[in-house]
Amino acid sequence: MDTPRRTREQLRSWRWFGTGDTRGFSHRSRMQQVGVRREEVMGRPIIGIINTWSEISTCHLHLRERAGNVKRGILAAGGFPIEMPALSLGEVMVKPTTMFYRNLLAMECEELLRSHPVDGAVLMGGCDKTTPGLLLGAISMDLPAIYLPAGPQLNGHFKGVKVGVGTHTRTYYDELRAGKISAQDWVDLEAAMCRSHGTCNTMGTASTMTSIAEVLGFCLPGATSIPADDAAHPRMAADCGERIVGMVWEDLKPSRILSAASVGNAAATYMALGGSTNCAVHLIAMARRAGIPLTLDDLDARAREIRVLVNLMPSGDYLMEDFYHAGGLRALLSRIEAHLDLSALTVTGRTLGENIAGARVTAGSEDIIRAADQPISDHGALAVLYGNLAPDGAVIKPAAADPALMQHVGPAVVFEDMVDMMKRIDDPALDVDENSVLVLRNAGPLGGPGFPEWGNLPIPKKVLAKGVRDMVRISDARMSGTHYGTCVLHVAPEAFIGGPLALVRDGDVIELDVAGRRLHLRVPDEELERRRAAWTAPPPRFERGYGRMFSAHVTQAPAGCDFDFLQQPGTLPEPDIF
Ligand code: FES
Repeated sequence: MDTPRRTREQLRSWRWFGTGDTRGFSHRSRMQQVGVRREEVMGRPIIGIINTWSEISTCHLHLRERAGNVKRGILAAGGFPIEMPALSLGEVMVKPTTMFYRNLLAMECEELLRSHPVDGAVLMGGCDKTTPGLLLGAISMDLPAIYLPAGPQLNGHFKGVKVGVGTHTRTYYDELRAGKISAQDWVDLEAAMCRSHGTCNTMGTASTMTSIAEVLGFCLPGATSIPADDAAHPRMAADCGERIVGMVWEDLKPSRILSAASVGNAAATYMALGGSTNCAVHLIAMARRAGIPLTLDDLDARAREIRVLVNLMPSGDYLMEDFYHAGGLRALLSRIEAHLDLSALTVTGRTLGENIAGARVTAGSEDIIRAADQPISDHGALAVLYGNLAPDGAVIKPAAADPALMQHVGPAVVFEDMVDMMKRIDDPALDVDENSVLVLRNAGPLGGPGFPEWGNLPIPKKVLAKGVRDMVRISDARMSGTHYGTCVLHVAPEAFIGGPLALVRDGDVIELDVAGRRLHLRVPDEELERRRAAWTAPPPRFERGYGRMFSAHVTQAPAGCDFDFLQQPGTLPEPDIF
């Protein structure tokens, strides 16, 4: 069947450049001012390249060069490229946390597309929040859009050990504090950790979310697995440029790509990847933008069905470069076909099933992408916990935690906030041992502020000294997807708004039962009510600016931390006259 093709008069950009009145004159004249001929913008798809490149966004440093590859593809296909910079959220550098700004990037992306003469978009990102940020904006604007992932860094090596970004930072930091490596080792590791351009090379949040973008249908097949510095990456960028022009003529928009089927595919893939807990927040936000009511319970149900098959750090042994050579995401999807709806439409104009036809795990790489009956762990990528400590839910990544701690009862050691934790965690007088449960509060969406990745609390020095490397930790914070440990995260409602985490005291006994999906504070209800009556809300974190808007509108983790006023599906009507 032939795909219906729009006429040039149906292009959105025709309203800017096609008319004979003073507006059309002015728009064309301004383009001619910069050396563009009128026929280059009249009746050709105008493609906005939304580029999150910046010099301080280290994972995206190559995206400026890649924009040139994208432009080559757009021009070859008969479109016209316009590169537009957008908020660049480099995970490590941006404070208080990039999560604070994810929704700002989403709004910026949506409004950049809305306000300019753009018919379609190539979205360039990859570092953790840029993928959901850009996709949220594109979903709401609903113009044809394709996602170009920055690609992961090459494998890191340190003294003969394959090192994963983030994962081994935490491993070696514990070894340093335990006196097992030298200060010079620590300095040398710093130079060895990040070997090339690109995003973190583990199955952290970046690789999880770019894989999710691909399985949702927003990327070319196999795009997300290509390392940033592989020659296939610029070729893939040019392919994105070429394809978006076809998508504009076909009017292939996010509302045709996102469906309950594609979201279900994403949830299944998240579990098989052993993806970051952050994915639970972002996937819920993206689904709800499209009017698909995804919940934590839906994700938990998928986690019970599908084991972790990808043997990548932090849950496993390998890195993204290995995953690429093992066949990448397409090969993984071929392993879990039975859990996927292969009829879901993608940016290729074909179905997911057609995109993965013939994909196989590379011979000899079966340990990297496991068969369904050989998962890397008996525990799943996610468990959603409820109880009197988390009435609206909390999450844990069992596959990256100590199996011996999946059922645990211990006394709480409570930290009021991050500053308090930093001050006291290594204090020899701290009353803590390996059975204690470390509790950090006031680190959620409002309390952090911005929902920082503080949930992987360091193990206290005096416990490290006993050779212990994992403990139960509970917080209303998030955790980096590159980190590991028995960390209960996203406790909701958060302490800052009076969630039960605010009521915990040192010595209270906490019960964690991952198989039973239970997180319980063994304190009588009447005592909790007394403590609640005595609790006073902290003053707001912000008096002005973006922070004030954030505080007024951000939702809690189980709802995706989107702004309440952005969660409606569908795009705004565009005015006829502007
Ligand atoms: Fe950018 Fe990890 S810091 S992906």
